[in-house]
Amino acid sequence: MSQPVIAASNLRLTLGEGPAAVEILRGIDLDVAPGETLALLGPSGSGKSSLMSVLSGLEQASSGSLTVAGEDFTALSEDDLARARRGRIGIVLQAFHLLPTMTAVENVATPMELAGDKNAWDRAAQELEAVGLGHRLTHYPAQLSGGEQQRVAIARAIAPRPPLIFADEPTGNLDASTGDSVVDVLFRRRAETGATLVIITHDRHLAEKCDRVVTLADGQIASDTARARGAA
Ligand SMILES: Nc1ncnc2c1ncn2[C@@H]1O[C@H](COP(=O)(O)OP(=O)(O)O)[C@@H](O)[C@H]1O
Ligand SMILES: [Mg+2]
Repeated sequence: MSQPVIAASNLRLTLGEGPAAVEILRGIDLDVAPGETLALLGPSGSGKSSLMSVLSGLEQASSGSLTVAGEDFTALSEDDLARARRGRIGIVLQAFHLLPTMTAVENVATPMELAGDKNAWDRAAQELEAVGLGHRLTHYPAQLSGGEQQRVAIARAIAPRPPLIFADEPTGNLDASTGDSVVDVLFRRRAETGATLVIITHDRHLAEKCDRVVTLADGQIASDTARARGAA
């Protein structure tokens, strides 16, 4: 494999202390190649969202080593992690974390504008149109359905064209046909930019589009299966 974009070795995440300590991640070894598309599967509570938080720099591992896009994530402070993520890592969380006081287009454009993108507003509108929300640009999150909010969160993550995209069950709130069209947008952008995609999903259709399927069980990797690209 060429230099991995994510290199995790013996990653552990323990929350709580003493007798109340819970081991959430129990020694994860995972290398992801640039441009790879990886589906992360596993039962509820197996640690998928926790692993995504650590790999994307939202949460610090308790121990182990983690290099993402050439940066040693275990050595960075929270502020430095936030800087490392900006423009480089797009994240779609299970709870969408849209800003309630901003419209859909503001939610997508504002982070890009803050990052200095002169075309932030045009690109935000285009990305929302691509996920089928061209008619919802000036709606506030509270005026949108769960599925529409999910699509705003996806547009926000992919609009800056980050080289690394993480998505936690991005089709979880969408009906099958909307889910398929959003997945198409995600993979089309990936094809355009060569981004690396790490997607947590229960959606078999979505997992089948990925190069590689990693299964978690009880905080550990239970299986790791590479597939020839385009095999699905
Ligand atoms: N803040 C927390 N404190 C204690 N336990 C937590 C916390 N967050 C998650 N967990 C536990 O960690 C385990 C993995 O959770 P999670 O990563 O959300 O799993 P998944 O996304 O696979 O459903 C679960 O047992 C969950 O209850
Ligand atoms: Mg989860």
